[in-house]
This record gives sequence, C-alpha cells and structure tokens, in this order.
Amino acid sequence: MLDLVFSFSLFSVLGWIIEVLYRSSVNRRFVNPGLLKGPYLILYGTGGIVLCGLVSLFGHVNIIFKVLIYAVVTTGLEFFSGMVALRLFNKKLWDYSDNRFNYKGLICLKFSIYWTIMALLFDHYVFPFYRDILHNIPDTTKFIFGFGVLLCMLVDLYKMVHDHFFGYPSEEYKLLKKEFLERASNYLTNPAICKLKDSLHHRDKNRLEHVMEVAFYSFLIAKKMCLDIDAVVKGAMLHDLFYYDWLREGPRLHGLRHPRISLENARKLYPLSKKEEDIIKKHMWPLTIIPPCYLESFVVALVDSFCSFRDYIPCLRRHLFRDENI
Ligand SMILES: [Fe+2]
Ligand SMILES: [Fe+2]
Repeated sequence: MLDLVFSFSLFSVLGWIIEVLYRSSVNRRFVNPGLLKGPYLILYGTGGIVLCGLVSLFGHVNIIFKVLIYAVVTTGLEFFSGMVALRLFNKKLWDYSDNRFNYKGLICLKFSIYWTIMALLFDHYVFPFYRDILHNIPDTTKFIFGFGVLLCMLVDLYKMVHDHFFGYPSEEYKLLKKEFLERASNYLTNPAICKLKDSLHHRDKNRLEHVMEVAFYSFLIAKKMCLDIDAVVKGAMLHDLFYYDWLREGPRLHGLRHPRISLENARKLYPLSKKEEDIIKKHMWPLTIIPPCYLESFVVALVDSFCSFRDYIPCLRRHLFRDENI
C-alpha cells in the first residue's frame, strides 16, 4: 500500500515535469498542464501504476503481444481521461484535431506510437531500475512524500470540483436554489415523502434533509453537465425512501438492501422511468457492485457518498435546508 501511494505520487510529479518541459518548449511560455493547480498529473500517476502492473503481468510475453497491449492500454487511458475532463469539466486538455488519424481530437496515431514507445522504454529500462531503488527508499520518506503529495492532490481536486460545480456568485446561487425548491416542491407535497422528516438519518440530520441535500447538489452537477435534471431530482428525492431507523432496526445488510426497499416504495408513489429506477437502485454503488447504467446515477451515487461522509465530519457538516420550512 505504501509503495503504491508513493509510486502514484512520484509518477504524478514526474509526469507533470515531463509535460511542463514539453508543452512549455512547444508554446515558448510556461504551461501548467492538467486540471489541477499543483505540480502533479493524475493521468501519469495512474498510467505509471497501470504500467507497473502490466510489466509485472506481461513482462515476459513476446514483443508483438506486448506492443499491442501497451498501445491499447495507454491510448485507452489517454482517451478515457480526455473524455472525463471534457465531459465533467468542459475542458479539452489536449487537442490532436490537426493530427492525422485522430479520434475526437483526444487520441491520434502519432501520440499512440509515442506512448507505446515510452511504455516499452519503461518496461525495459525504468521498471527494473525503479523496482530495485524502491526497496532502498526508507518507509518514512515514502510515507511523507507519498501521502503529502496525495493529500495536496485531494485538496486541489476537491477545490477544483467545488469551484466548477458549486462556485456560483451568491445571486446566481440563490436563483438556482429557488429553481431547485420549485422542482422539489412536486415531491414535498406528498405525505409519504414528508414523513421522511420523522426519521433520523445521519447524526442529527433527518432523512428528508438528507435527500434534499443529495437532490440539490446532484441538480447543480446535472445542470453543469447538461444531464436529465428531472430524472436526477426525482431519483435523488426518492433514493432513501424507507422509514426505519437504520442504525437500530430494519433488515440485515441494510446498506445493500435499502436501495431495493426504496425502489419498491417509490414505485408505489410514482411511475418511474428506467433511468430513475437505476438512480435509486444503484445509489449505493460501488457497494452494490453492478455499476450504474446512466451518468445521472453516477452523479447521485457520488453525491450521496459525499453528503453521507460529510455528515460525520463535524467541521464540514451543513444543514442546507433546515431553515427552508420544508
Ligand atoms: Fe441510501
Ligand atoms: Fe442517501
């Protein structure tokens, strides 16, 4: 675990240095690559770890097979991270549109060849050398560097995500909150949903406050990502539609079973589309293993985890809707 964190941090920082040198020399000015502000690139950290795994697994197979694997994995990683940045943050971090044989400007033949050559060099020269020196680095150094960089990266990531999705000027934020409350009022007039107010959910927060928070943050993200807002709000408002005190009563394995219970209860109240059903059923993912089928479900599942986590950290806990007379 310590080696993994240290390696991830080290590759992230080294990747950032390589990209800064390359891009700054091409543009003849300093260019800070990536989405984060600090000197690290998550793509290189992830790529380095994946490559270490691949070299360990396929280090001895024949060269043609190896080239194929490295080409597919490095190009796949580049495409995936490019799509994530584009879809989540509306940012095109690189653009290969001018290169021949490109796909959506995110991958192209020329750079796939570069990545494959770099992966082969990594396999042949870097990995054996790195594996040897890794054992000689003291654990304290690994811990301080590995977790230090990782912590900075997480804070940086949190700030970037927060600013992008929730960093509205106060007037705009108020208007968005008003729009959300108008949408939510469709559900708040239903006594079966109002009844959630009587169940404690996380610490001193009742279940209605929790679903409202999840629905509001999911609504803000859905707006930014141009997702299906109606489905997001409806799915999130109904995602914890059960009435027992989950800490003291209810079924065994509550965490795994309550999405189904909520779904059955929601079906009794409203007709649900496939997407809305998926949002409710998969809101505990990855605990419920089968991944969501829609981006909307991913958003609600992530927001639900975040809100639940935050409710247990005293300095982060908020009661967004306590004064709204819901
Ligand atoms: Fe839940
Ligand atoms: Fe929840």
